[in-house]
Amino acid sequence: MLRIAGKKGKNMRTFVIRARKASIRPDKVFAQVGSDEHFEIIAHTLANAFYYSNGMRENVQVYVVLDSSPDFPRTLKFSSNEGLSFPGFHERAILEVIVSALTRGAKVTKDSVLPIQPGIEICGFGFDTLMKGLQEKAPTYLLDSKGEDVRNVEFQENALFVLSDHLSMPKNSIKGLERRGLTKISLGKRVLFASQCVVLVHNEMDRQGR
Ligand SMILES: C[S@@+](CC[C@H](N)C(=O)[O-])C[C@H]1O[C@@H](n2cnc3c(N)ncnc32)[C@H](O)[C@@H]1O
Repeated sequence: MLRIAGKKGKNMRTFVIRARKASIRPDKVFAQVGSDEHFEIIAHTLANAFYYSNGMRENVQVYVVLDSSPDFPRTLKFSSNEGLSFPGFHERAILEVIVSALTRGAKVTKDSVLPIQPGIEICGFGFDTLMKGLQEKAPTYLLDSKGEDVRNVEFQENALFVLSDHLSMPKNSIKGLERRGLTKISLGKRVLFASQCVVLVHNEMDRQGR
């Protein structure tokens, strides 16, 4: 699932965003925009993870974990190196792709992975299973305003960045991440939107030439 090297030998940047109340039901996606569930955070985070002024970044992948489900959580994987495209970078364009992916991925079974379209897969599992797999292969950085200043961190290759949406990451999940090896990194004391964190991480990595 996790591609280890990026294109042309470049580092892969991987983001995991855990959306605590985001629904796996396609008919609920737009209803959760601007509500307590704040599905719009996912669209903003994807836009900032993939787009820059001149186009789409290579060597980026984003896992969106959707926690709200009557059976088991789902994770959508977006990968710019696998032919990902959106019909635009505005909120509606991105959310429509998510609605389509959830509709077409409705048959995914627990613990399996189903390709949806170039650059998009749906996984029949949530955060803990995903992270167990990813942490075996990638150095993991949890975005945390109380962590180590990002400017003092020399990132390892193929870094994996983990963040939550508007709700805190559960303490038990953090303990699991720590057991497998984790660095907490801070972008400053001010608590930012997840989508803003992604921009700042890209900026730090770009400036380090990674
Ligand atoms: C809107 S914040 C979540 C706020 C939530 N009440 C909490 O305390 O975690 C979304 C995510 O962005 C990341 N984040 C926000 N501000 C940050 C900062 N200054 N440094 C590092 N990560 C930050 C964290 O991963 C956080 O879970």
